[in-house]
Amino acid sequence: MKAPTPVQIRRLEQAARAAAREAYAPYSRFAVGAAVLVEGGRIFSGCNVENASYGLCNCAERTAIFSAVAAGQRRLRCVVVYTPTKTATMPCGACRQVINEFGPEARVISVCDGRERIETTLAALLPGAFGPADLA
Ligand code: THU
Repeated sequence: MKAPTPVQIRRLEQAARAAAREAYAPYSRFAVGAAVLVEGGRIFSGCNVENASYGLCNCAERTAIFSAVAAGQRRLRCVVVYTPTKTATMPCGACRQVINEFGPEARVISVCDGRERIETTLAALLPGAFGPADLA
């Protein structure tokens, strides 16, 4: 799948930053925004959504990915995570597994308010992943 262009990456970062402003995180007070680029070029974004029943908290990455899937977009090219922190935040293990489902070759980029910026791939973050092919 095509690599994201610099312009697309900039748009993804903007979308992730905007999404973080909608974070519902009254318990952790840790706002996260995410944006995903799908095959075809559309961008979907999402924030973390927490719950008084803590185990039901949903990460920003999964909110964004599930929005893309709900719109019929199942192929992810790139996932961007933004946190208003000094250091960049990487997707949690559960989100890595969900990214693998729809974007095993996706780029993953983490940005923050500090200088740190991490650019990697889902394959590097989740080597030897269990995925759809294992059930075929
Ligand atoms: N969180 C995300 O949304 N994405 C991540 O990559 C890491 C963690 C959320 C979940 C929870 O609402 C809060 O951050 C603290 O864990």
